[in-house]
Amino acid sequence: MKRVGIVGSGKVGCSAALFLLPQVDEIILYDIVPSLPMGEALDLQNAADALDLSTEVKGTNDISLLKGLDVVIVTAGFGRTADMSRMDLLNKNLPIIEGIAKEYATDKNGETLFIIVTNPVDVLTYVFWKKSGVERQRVAGLSGVLDTSRLKTILRIEKKIKLKDTSLFVLGEHGDNMIIPKEKLQKKYGLSNAELESIREQTTKAAARIIGMKGATVYGPGAAIARMVKAILADKGEVLPASAVLDGEYGIRDVCIGVPVRVGRKGFKVVEEKLSDEEVFMLKKAAESIVIVLEQIGYRK
Ligand code: 2OP
Repeated sequence: MKRVGIVGSGKVGCSAALFLLPQVDEIILYDIVPSLPMGEALDLQNAADALDLSTEVKGTNDISLLKGLDVVIVTAGFGRTADMSRMDLLNKNLPIIEGIAKEYATDKNGETLFIIVTNPVDVLTYVFWKKSGVERQRVAGLSGVLDTSRLKTILRIEKKIKLKDTSLFVLGEHGDNMIIPKEKLQKKYGLSNAELESIREQTTKAAARIIGMKGATVYGPGAAIARMVKAILADKGEVLPASAVLDGEYGIRDVCIGVPVRVGRKGFKVVEEKLSDEEVFMLKKAAESIVIVLEQIGYRK
């Protein structure tokens, strides 16, 4: 049985559920809002039955039903308006993630994997890991898979480049300190520094652009979450970019930042790929920006 829980039955959580329907046997949606997860689950169950899928979708206001699952996706929290940064959500979303993490503190020795989506995701993935006490490779934040999809879209639209190379990842912070694979793009497509800087800028601002046009990002995050779950369940050790807890890799310790991870049923194992000096410098700079926030909220000394 492939069983997935989604904490937070908002747009992103339900979009992830929709993309997951063909991949899993059971989805359990949770939310604190009475009847919302049950209503969303019924609607999604109609979708599964319309597609003749055997998937079962349930909704609950009782988070204890989301225990002992293969994967739990945490999307609960507030979204941002286009004029806000993801970091601006910290004060409102920190207590929400702390509360959810405490629910899983009893699952310390379990096998459930956690994908954190709530922003600011690098900070809150670390908070979830610390507060829940689960081992680090069982937790990852949704960042690079989504940011890399935006890079691909920009290359497709602006440069008519269909980026098929699956080793080209956006790394670093799921935020202003995002790192695009400049050297690889330069070598592969002959893009100029000016073009690459414009692409980096657009990739960094891609979510805010969509939020400005339609109020929220929904399908990109939902599909990116489903992509991570697919790699977990396939259990083939696929390498994807995600926000992970570092413990010395890339010379970085005790913080979450977007790096390549090997994905399988046992979790997300950080992979130390060969990065350029500039990329290592930018990764450390991005990590440092997260450490400063973790210190401000008392999670790092
Ligand atoms: C995004 O970039 C929600 O942070 C997420 O769309």
